[in-house]
Amino acid sequence: MLIRDATLEDWPAIWPFLRRYIADGETFPWDREASEEQIRVTWFPAPPGRTVVAVDPDGTILGSANITPNHGGAAAHVANASFVVDAGRAGRGVGRALGEHILDRARADGYHAMQFNSVVETNTRAVALWRSLGFDILATVPDAFRHPIDGYVGLHIMYRRL
Ligand SMILES: CC(C)(COP(=O)(O)OP(=O)(O)OC[C@H]1O[C@@H](n2cnc3c(N)ncnc32)[C@H](O)[C@@H]1OP(=O)(O)O)[C@@H](O)C(=O)NCCC(=O)NCCS
Repeated sequence: MLIRDATLEDWPAIWPFLRRYIADGETFPWDREASEEQIRVTWFPAPPGRTVVAVDPDGTILGSANITPNHGGAAAHVANASFVVDAGRAGRGVGRALGEHILDRARADGYHAMQFNSVVETNTRAVALWRSLGFDILATVPDAFRHPIDGYVGLHIMYRRL
């Protein structure tokens, strides 16, 4: 598997598997009815933000991630990141490889730390992955996410220094 910078030409391959997660409403705190264009703008943040894709040797896109400053100005040295792996390719180490890559890139870009603002507490796969990559749960905002099956659940704020 190769992880490389993404271009807008990769978007048509990312959108089909990303939209499934948005539509099921269990992981991303985004409007389930958001348009493709709205999500594309979010997924490809303006510089210094960057987007990467994980690809198979045959060029198939397996997953994608992006980094962007979590806030602007005097708080721009803390990065935020988002991740998605094609559900058909889940559980094979793509998410871990993207996580490790994004941590390295964030470090190389000069960020001091990485913060996730809204990890749904029932997203146990993601929580376990981020913990194993060195993130701590700083706090859990109670009942901050309306899960379509579990009802109101917490959102973890997760953090690690780089
Ligand atoms: C979260 C996500 C990125 C993980 O990607 P993935 O390619 O399936 O992850 P990996 O195969 O690298 O597994 C990573 C870790 O997940 C955890 N994990 C895997 N399967 C799991 C399961 N069924 N239950 C709980 N944890 C699990 C393990 O800690 C695993 O670590 P390991 O390498 O020691 O086995 C992917 O499931 C995804 O895109 N989910 C939907 C979008 C999302 O939740 N994004 C993150 C929002 S914070």
